[in-house]
Amino acid sequence: MKLNRQTDQRIVIAISGGIAAYKTVGVIRELQKRGYRDIETILTANGARFVTPVTLSAITGNIPYADTFEAGRALSHISLVQPCGILAVVPATADIIAKFACGIADDFLSTAYLACTGPVLAAPSMNAEMYRHATTLRNLEQLKKDGVHVLDPDSGYLACGTEGPGRMPDAEIVADVIEHVLHRHIGGPLSGRKVVIASGGTAEPIDPVRTITNRSTGRMGKALATAFSLAGASVEIVTGIGNARYPAYCRQTIAETASEMLNAVIEKATDADIIVMAAAVADYTPATVLREKKKKDENNLHLELKPTTDILKTLGTQYEGKKILVGFAAETSNVEDHAKKKLTEKKADLIVGNLVGVPDSGFGAESSRAVLVQKGEISDSYDKIEKEQLAFCIVEKVVAMLESRQ
Ligand SMILES: Cc1cc2nc3c(=O)[nH]c(=O)nc-3n(C[C@H](O)[C@H](O)[C@H](O)COP(=O)(O)O)c2cc1C
Repeated sequence: MKLNRQTDQRIVIAISGGIAAYKTVGVIRELQKRGYRDIETILTANGARFVTPVTLSAITGNIPYADTFEAGRALSHISLVQPCGILAVVPATADIIAKFACGIADDFLSTAYLACTGPVLAAPSMNAEMYRHATTLRNLEQLKKDGVHVLDPDSGYLACGTEGPGRMPDAEIVADVIEHVLHRHIGGPLSGRKVVIASGGTAEPIDPVRTITNRSTGRMGKALATAFSLAGASVEIVTGIGNARYPAYCRQTIAETASEMLNAVIEKATDADIIVMAAAVADYTPATVLREKKKKDENNLHLELKPTTDILKTLGTQYEGKKILVGFAAETSNVEDHAKKKLTEKKADLIVGNLVGVPDSGFGAESSRAVLVQKGEISDSYDKIEKEQLAFCIVEKVVAMLESRQ
């Protein structure tokens, strides 16, 4: 089975007349960056006061839908959304939310909403008082009861100069949620499964200001979170340090040190089906942590380090044959041999061996030079593969392993 983003699904982005409409262009660009090709737009009459049809035509290559009675496009309020992968209303005004809640169908968007056979997402955005108004909240509740996915607005500084709830989340977050709803609706092979992904590097304290850390950015963990989630799994990230932005819909726990990561992973893993240790966990930690900042002097500084608990091995001992356990081996040489050895020693089901310390593979790189080791053998070898693609290959292996265990 080939797993990937379902980029051939039609995404219909509807823009109603809210000030956040300017951000919607960024959402469309973000979806295009992720490979979605069939993007259509709907503009309400007031939406067109904020974003022009020319802008939308230019970025999507398609003329926006705006008028139910447009000659030559009659009945497109039906054909556009039957079928469609998702109808996402970004931003959704108080007005369009009220229309949806009551079934009013007096313009293209409100009519297409009633005709839509795919999932619908609404991203409400407005002045905080408008959002908090009993009518708006009641209408949003009605939408949820009707099966509409509602992306709660952020709280913060609003265009009207006040602060409070009503801010549309950033483009990447909106795009995350659109993808998530789209794939949930399609249903993936890991629906109903839970995966714990440990990601990023750890930082072991020397004194209150200094740590021993590594170059991990969490990029591979982010790619895995995306791939597992789009395959239907519910994803729990345990992240150390690193600058990766994980998909908005994943649960996240921060665990900075190796011992915090051990505790967090063990706790989250109890009800998980799959555990992926993609974090670069420190092998050693200072034997004692200084209470005060160490002052610089002329002498060499000797640090005594003690080994940390091996998280993968702990998990392997506890869960061998019960959960799918995936580990990573980051190596500067002999990747294949180290990965094979690690598979046996840690009692893992799959080891991803990857080369680190070169520009096109390892920490922070977009791509990886990697091998997959299963049952003592190399099952796949990649000279150079994008981390996102590698993540989907790992998910495919996990799906196959789960199927073979049933
Ligand atoms: C400058 C300006 C900004 C507005 N921003 C919002 C907004 O962010 N959210 C909202 O619900 N309404 C906003 N409105 C009011 C809507 O544009 C108005 O309710 C309109 O009828 C919505 O039409 P539509 O839902 O058909 O697009 C704004 C109006 C103006 C003039």
